Amino acid sequence: MQLTPSLESLNVNLTDITHHAYETVQRGKHFFAIAHKALSTHIFLGLFPPTQKRTQPLSPEVLAWVQERYNALLETDWQGAERGIYPIDLLFDAPWTEFLQFYPSLWLDSSKMWQRANANMFQEFDAAINLENYPQYYRQNFHYQTDGYLSETSANLYDMQVEILFGGTADAMRRRILAPLVDHVQRNSPSPRILDIACGTGRTLKQLQAAFPTASLFGLDLSESYLRKANTLLIQEAGVLPQLVQGRAEDLPYVENHFDILTCIFLFHELPAPVRQQVIAEAYRVLQPGGMFILCDSIQVADFPGQRVMMDNFANLYHEPFYRNYIEDDISQRLTDDGFELLGVEYHFMSKYWIVRKP
Ligand SMILES: C[S@@+](CC[C@H](N)C(=O)[O-])C[C@H]1O[C@@H](n2cnc3c(N)ncnc32)[C@H](O)[C@@H]1O
Repeated sequence: MQLTPSLESLNVNLTDITHHAYETVQRGKHFFAIAHKALSTHIFLGLFPPTQKRTQPLSPEVLAWVQERYNALLETDWQGAERGIYPIDLLFDAPWTEFLQFYPSLWLDSSKMWQRANANMFQEFDAAINLENYPQYYRQNFHYQTDGYLSETSANLYDMQVEILFGGTADAMRRRILAPLVDHVQRNSPSPRILDIACGTGRTLKQLQAAFPTASLFGLDLSESYLRKANTLLIQEAGVLPQLVQGRAEDLPYVENHFDILTCIFLFHELPAPVRQQVIAEAYRVLQPGGMFILCDSIQVADFPGQRVMMDNFANLYHEPFYRNYIEDDISQRLTDDGFELLGVEYHFMSKYWIVRKP
């Protein structure tokens, strides 16, 4: 006699349970992000009143648009795992212990960011940081964050800050590069050589590791601290360790035609326009003919003019000196000017994806 009822007898489907679990975790992250933003805004507005109003209220139409696109992203993300594009585990992957560990530091740092924003100070670095090795446009406190991208503290807080900014969807947006890549890999080499340009703390490389276990992975970033953080994340996985290199996206330290695939996530809005073009030229040079390049960054005004107020709020709230230029920039034109063939453009939640091929 069976004492415990089977899942079948309870008419419960494991896939449904996993789907609900995923939705619950995501909605939990979303709720947490909203609560954190509301509480921190309330506290810091009281402690450090801003000298000028920096944001405009969002209309009910814009808020409905955000909600609709958020729901669509979660559904697409779930379906990607269900179709086997990436393992289901990836949907639940997050550095929870680190989030807990560094959450108090996030509050401390938010207070400094708020004060820096009020004083419009964006070139404050610890005296021990040697800025000489970095291009001028990079020597800034992007997002008003302490030490910009150039300290261990900044690297420890970055993933949590981005998850809060995007309501817990940063990884889900990064995962949207995987479906076109899986199609490409199935039609070409099963063990591709993939470079993630501006890999940051390695979240995209981790997803690539999971989706393409036999690929050779490479990551490049300007920040030594972020690369160290990426290394700590990536050594946790079995298999070949991605090769991480400190370097400039606009001067890639690789020979011509070296890679089958290139990815680049959330970099372009932080570059001056001429540097964007240089990065595209470099991407073209190191990609082999027939190779695929996927570029992901913020949505742009031409695609969603009704959401301009949201983009303006972002630019006004965070120190993003090149964002206003980026949202008006014709990236498709830049890509084709350098020889790429545009295969498609996709939009998921707050991000835009250019999928191109080197002929
Ligand atoms: C907004 S973060 C995005 C990081 C990562 N791709 C992600 O998905 O979170 C921008 C990253 O670009 C890096 N970066 C900025 N300018 C760069 C450049 N010229 N070359 C290489 N990396 C750069 C920064 O150090 C930072 O890690």
